[in-house]
Amino acid sequence: MTKRIFSGIQPTGSAHIGNYLGAIKNWVELQNQYDSVFCIVDLHALTNPEAANQMQKKIFDSTTTLLAAGIDPKKCILFVQSHVHEHTELTWLLNTITPIAELERMTQFKEKSKHLKQSINMGLFDYPVLMAADILLYHTNVVPVGEDQRQHVELARIIARKFNNQFNKTFILPEPLIYKSSARIMSLADPTKKMSKSIPHGCLELTDSPALIKEKIKKAVTDSGNEIKYSPKKPAVVNLMTIYASFSKLSFDQIEKKYKGKGYAQFKDDLAKIIIKELKPFQEKKKALDKKPEQIRKILENGAKKAQSIAQKNLKEIKQKMGLL
Ligand code: TYM
Repeated sequence: MTKRIFSGIQPTGSAHIGNYLGAIKNWVELQNQYDSVFCIVDLHALTNPEAANQMQKKIFDSTTTLLAAGIDPKKCILFVQSHVHEHTELTWLLNTITPIAELERMTQFKEKSKHLKQSINMGLFDYPVLMAADILLYHTNVVPVGEDQRQHVELARIIARKFNNQFNKTFILPEPLIYKSSARIMSLADPTKKMSKSIPHGCLELTDSPALIKEKIKKAVTDSGNEIKYSPKKPAVVNLMTIYASFSKLSFDQIEKKYKGKGYAQFKDDLAKIIIKELKPFQEKKKALDKKPEQIRKILENGAKKAQSIAQKNLKEIKQKMGLL
């Protein structure tokens, strides 16, 4: 039987190149080999009060982003998390077997609660259990994600194991699939922090205009010296080389050779050109799709129907295993 993959993305508006290289680009390849389920996780996004602004627009935007990048609803199931209520129901069931100590260990929770300070909500704490429910509801074999989500996938495995021990074998233990080369794209403003919307000036968005891409790459921090070299002493250059390699398919060795003796300015100029060229067809497709909200609505409706027919059946079995009537 074909193995199943499941992955999700928050509707934060237009995605950044970290989302693209760490996740979306890989999903486009994987949908040809796996039984694929992709989810726009609006309920996860609600845990961040700022991100929850203009949610409907952001859900549409994320959908057209995925479609324009090559996600094909004929090859996969694409849907919105809140359209399939089985996700939240399973979250409750899994909550009853998840140790609080496991959630307290979650790095992302610790980081986000530092940032939010006073307004830490219960949803933020329970976020990884909702993610485990997303994954386990579809008896997922493989979860393609960026490095920052590894710990959450591990938690899903812990919960699945605990459930199987307590109520008989039900869940497959899902494996994370993390592509080493693009697992962690760092901020252009600070190579010690991952690229994210929360550091806007270091974040390159897929819908940025050519002029803005040029400007952002030009302003990207570099390290001392002027050599293009893949070295742990040059984290900023390594990050730019990683982006270059992912967009151009050149290896780090080839990039080093190409820019030997040439300095940062030439390298950055070419990098901007490569990104602009790769994103052009994507941006054109997205613009066209943005004008067809009815078509997008239909795609999401169909996706939710397909997802729900799997989710309903699986949730029924899970409830029976737990001894509910
Ligand atoms: P989210 O929306 O933050 O990110 C979506 C995907 O993009 C990856 N990613 C990155 N990869 C490389 N470099 C970066 N700077 C970078 N930033 C983000 C993420 O690792 C992710 O793969 N909780 C998840 C969404 C989710 C999910 C799931 C994922 C909900 N349920 C079930 C897998 C399975 C999240 O917030 O991703």
